[in-house]
Amino acid sequence: MNQLSGRVAIVTGASSGIGYETAKLFAKEGAKVVVTGRRQDALDKLVNEIERGGGQAIAVAGDIREEQLARALVDTAVDRFGGLDIAFNNVGATGESVPVPDMSAQAWHAVLDTNLTSAFFGAKYQIPAMVKRGGGSIIFTSTFVSHTASFPGMGAYAASKAGLIGLMQVIAVEYGSHGIRANALLPGGTDTP
Ligand SMILES: NC(=O)c1ccc[n+]([C@@H]2O[C@H](COP(=O)([O-])OP(=O)(O)OC[C@H]3O[C@@H](n4cnc5c(N)ncnc54)[C@H](OP(=O)(O)O)[C@@H]3O)[C@@H](O)[C@H]2O)c1
Repeated sequence: MNQLSGRVAIVTGASSGIGYETAKLFAKEGAKVVVTGRRQDALDKLVNEIERGGGQAIAVAGDIREEQLARALVDTAVDRFGGLDIAFNNVGATGESVPVPDMSAQAWHAVLDTNLTSAFFGAKYQIPAMVKRGGGSIIFTSTFVSHTASFPGMGAYAASKAGLIGLMQVIAVEYGSHGIRANALLPGGTDTP
């Protein structure tokens, strides 16, 4: 218990599933959490649950494809909770399931923007805040899909999630000497909304 006492965390994709439960666990372990997703009502429910359990959380609703949201999340962590130690960049969407030749450019970009470009926006603002704290932990939710097994119709999803692993490895070598750890989670099939 209280493994994260005094820490401040951002959790994306927090209005549902893995992100929702992670935000609750981080708070239970003592972290102050900034949670985000598009659905304000789901975030409000999460913040209420955390506060009822004695924790502290702030919801910042928005679309993860917008760079300004990444900045607002870090500003909230710093202004309201004093800094940033942990960023769980967990948001993800599978997009439409079609074979590669049938995939529209629009569908491709929608998945890449949600899963990969959002992680770049996040890291861009999270890393300087962590450097100011003397270190931190940045985590991306990738997937087992196309790493240990693959499925038809998931070209954009698999490419975006593989991209997260490349981004993570570069951050590790760029900022390891600043005390920042970079990791990717590759969950297996998980029963979520
Ligand atoms: N479940 C699995 O079997 C599994 C397996 C491997 C990897 N993963 C990965 O694990 C992560 C979490 O998955 P999950 O199953 O917990 O997903 P989920 O229940 O579908 O939740 C997805 C979350 O992402 C948010 N989101 C999606 N698009 C967004 C956007 N444009 N802007 C802001 N927020 C957005 C949703 O919030 P709003 O709807 O409120 O916007 C929601 O909070 C994802 O990255 C997923 O790819 C899941």
